[in-house]
Amino acid sequence: MNLLDGKKCAESLIADIAKKVAGYVDSGLRKPHMTIILVGKHAPSESYVKSKITTSTLAGFDSNLIRFPETVKEAELLAKIQEINEDQTTDGVIVQLPLPKHINQQHIINAISPDKDIDGFHPTNFGRMTLGQKAFRPATAYGICKLLQFYEVPIKGKHCVVIGRSNIVGKPISIMLSNDFDIGNATVTLTHIETPRELLLDETRRGDIVIVAVGIPGFVTEDMVKEGVVLIDVGINRLENGKIVGDVAFDQVAPKCSWITPVPGGVGRMTVTALMINTLVAYQNNFN
Ligand code: GUN
Repeated sequence: MNLLDGKKCAESLIADIAKKVAGYVDSGLRKPHMTIILVGKHAPSESYVKSKITTSTLAGFDSNLIRFPETVKEAELLAKIQEINEDQTTDGVIVQLPLPKHINQQHIINAISPDKDIDGFHPTNFGRMTLGQKAFRPATAYGICKLLQFYEVPIKGKHCVVIGRSNIVGKPISIMLSNDFDIGNATVTLTHIETPRELLLDETRRGDIVIVAVGIPGFVTEDMVKEGVVLIDVGINRLENGKIVGDVAFDQVAPKCSWITPVPGGVGRMTVTALMINTLVAYQNNFN
């Protein structure tokens, strides 16, 4: 069993970005700039945002965090996004999700300029990604691809089984791995909450690569996968005792895997890294 070490991969990719940024700054250009909008006081969001800001500093970027109270009106958020869209010194913007229930998440995502949509959630980027065109790709899915690429895990021709059909992970990773990308050309099965249990087991047991993003601790057990599987655990679940665990029963499943991501230190680090890659591209696009 080998670990797909997201921390090691992230450090290497962030160092590459920092080197490029130092070169741009040496030649007289401003630094890349990322803006984050955070609404309310959702504990996991606070932690993700902190990690994004810390990593952006390591990458050599400038960043700013704009906070709004839980009670903010949709119109106020839309006005702020419009202001950021027009601001020539901001390359990428993230609206941290989830948003409070009274705000229509899709309205907010749709308002972000596709050129600054480093999360890759805007329908324009999602559409371009689906069509195999140049696009900002959703960060978690893109981060998983970068991690597999870093460890030279073969993807082309493999049977990949995705568990979970969310717009931010399951759907985009299934599209990206099946597309004719540099990191792709797999045969993909997308399973989800409505997949009958027997069908789910049939699929996961013949998967060469299994990617799970359901948010249920210990969902993937040893009997669900074959010997030598590559297992990507997207879950970040906090147990009552405060421990962070993934969606895989790691101790029982890991011995069966050829490769597996740890939680923490796996996919989570790669999400933030992919955001930095997207921010750098948004910045480069501004100067080309
Ligand atoms: N909330 C959970 N994951 C994400 C993400 O990748 N981007 C944003 N904006 N919010 C999130």
